[in-house]
Amino acid sequence: MRVLVTGGAGFIGSHIVENLLQEGVEVAVLDNLSTGKRENVPKGVYFYKVDLRDREGLERVFREFRPTHVSHQAAQASVKVSVDNPLLDFEVNLLGGLNLLEAMRKWGAEKILFASTGGAIYGEVPEGEEAEETWPPRPKSPYAASKAGFEHYLSAYGQNYGLKWVSLRYANVYGPRQDPHGEAGVVAIFSERVLKGEPVTLYARKSPGDEGCVRDYIYVGDVVQAHNLALKGLEGVYNVGTGEGHTTMEVLEAVAQAAGRTPQVNPAPPRPGDLERSVLSPHKLMAHGWRPQVSFAEGIRLTVEYFRGR
Ligand SMILES: NC(=O)c1ccc[n+]([C@@H]2O[C@H](COP(=O)([O-])OP(=O)(O)OC[C@H]3O[C@@H](n4cnc5c(N)ncnc54)[C@H](O)[C@@H]3O)[C@@H](O)[C@H]2O)c1
Repeated sequence: MRVLVTGGAGFIGSHIVENLLQEGVEVAVLDNLSTGKRENVPKGVYFYKVDLRDREGLERVFREFRPTHVSHQAAQASVKVSVDNPLLDFEVNLLGGLNLLEAMRKWGAEKILFASTGGAIYGEVPEGEEAEETWPPRPKSPYAASKAGFEHYLSAYGQNYGLKWVSLRYANVYGPRQDPHGEAGVVAIFSERVLKGEPVTLYARKSPGDEGCVRDYIYVGDVVQAHNLALKGLEGVYNVGTGEGHTTMEVLEAVAQAAGRTPQVNPAPPRPGDLERSVLSPHKLMAHGWRPQVSFAEGIRLTVEYFRGR
């Protein structure tokens, strides 16, 4: 098995690369380093600084590395950027993704694992419910639309060209190496700010001063285990979440406790475009033996310790 990890210099991709190396799999990384970092890629891994939009660059990677499998983590991954610049989002996530599928078709790669979004694809998840894979996608942002669109292309490539595919719909992933300077990644943002003794902004769910939106937070190590299982056997669409919802305030309290500091909190109005509540049903994946191993409190503790050590 020879696995090409796109986005392998990013947060989730780099954890996947480490795991594949431990499993003894031959790995190469393709990344344009737009948000990823070269130092996230372990030594000894082939690294191609190539953009998904560059067809000739992709051709060279496939000709040289001849992957049998592709783990497609690279993306324009920001909801906000997609709202500000839907064309950029389209070019990277859909056109870039199609370039990748065409290279796979030409060079006979067998299977693709796609990093989709459970956190954005279903729209609002009503109180007390967990979004299941059978729910129809209801994208609110161009980002979610591009992820849903690419899943349809996967289905079409499966039916027309026999490509094997898995779409892993990640919940809110957090853990070491997440970028604390972006718009998203509240655990990373809070960890860095609280450790530095800086005030934090808490965006409201409905009105300033409330507990904030509800999200399903999944530790990156558990995502890696789901990816591993999917690589070995699964096909189709799977949520990767915990089924538990936590408010932004709960995240802040857990971070503050792990950091041993009490932050100053600045309440802010809801952010435009934010969903109020998103929680995923993990049961389809659990039926294949996967279980989240890292509790919310433990995952936050591990993340805070990582930021403390930086
Ligand atoms: N972090 C989450 O909570 C979350 C949730 C759902 C889905 N996802 C998806 O998981 C994947 C990984 O996300 P992440 O959080 O690790 O983000 P990240 O920004 O750390 O990783 C994305 C990587 O893709 C690379 N990249 C971006 N555009 C590229 C291009 N045109 N060509 C080549 N490389 C390019 C970046 O340099 C970066 O290394 C993304 O597809 C994202 O949409 C993430």
